Amino acid sequence: MANDDEFAVRRFCVGHAYCRRLAADGAHVVVVDIDDPVDAVSVLTGGGDKLGLVCGISEPSQVDAVTGTAHDRYGRCDILVDNAGVFPFTDLEHMSIGLWRKVQAVNVGPILPFTRAFAPGMRAAGRGRVVHTGFLGRARPGGPTTGVPFACVTALQTIKRQSVAADLGNALGLPVYDDADFITRRILHGDGGMTRTGA
Ligand SMILES: NC(=O)c1ccc[n+]([C@@H]2O[C@H](COP(=O)([O-])OP(=O)(O)OC[C@H]3O[C@@H](n4cnc5c(N)ncnc54)[C@H](O)[C@@H]3O)[C@@H](O)[C@H]2O)c1
Repeated sequence: MANDDEFAVRRFCVGHAYCRRLAADGAHVVVVDIDDPVDAVSVLTGGGDKLGLVCGISEPSQVDAVTGTAHDRYGRCDILVDNAGVFPFTDLEHMSIGLWRKVQAVNVGPILPFTRAFAPGMRAAGRGRVVHTGFLGRARPGGPTTGVPFACVTALQTIKRQSVAADLGNALGLPVYDDADFITRRILHGDGGMTRTGA
């Protein structure tokens, strides 16, 4: 059971918003999660296939199994979205080396085997998209032991409202379709204008 602070941070599931957007657009969607994603898959709309696969993405053999299944079914993957991860609510003082390694193993390490598995198919098809998600983790005025005061975060944004999952789901539509095929290597900030650099 997540504590209140974790709940405040994890108030919506970005990954599901991505799946909803891609499925609604007609893509075949393979949802990969360490927890059986059957419920998440069951509510997806759109005319494409929907497949849920259980996979601990820090285990290379499990990654091989799901990428193999995707290849067997669909021949290739056109859009790889790397979103799964663990987000411990802690700070520098309390972060153990074990927890640090777990975050790297789940949030960073799997980028390599997933991308390596699907990149040849993208090259052969002449197109492909790889999207990594993350969180800059700024503007947390109450510190790690109190709930995030969202009003303070919103005050720092240009757009004065709290974000909803669809904001990020819709943002995914921007870089992954052919309309944007001249755009490469961009960082999109889905934060209502809180980030004011062009990076
Ligand atoms: N939720 C937000 O408010 C928010 C806002 C901006 C950015 N983000 C970023 O979006 C990304 C995803 O956030 P989210 O809200 O969807 O998180 P989430 O915790 O809701 O989803 C993460 C998923 O990863 C899965 N997972 C964890 N360990 C795994 C493993 N070893 N193997 C396979 N699956 C595993 C979990 O079961 C979970 O379904 C993160 O990078 C986050 O920082 C989130």
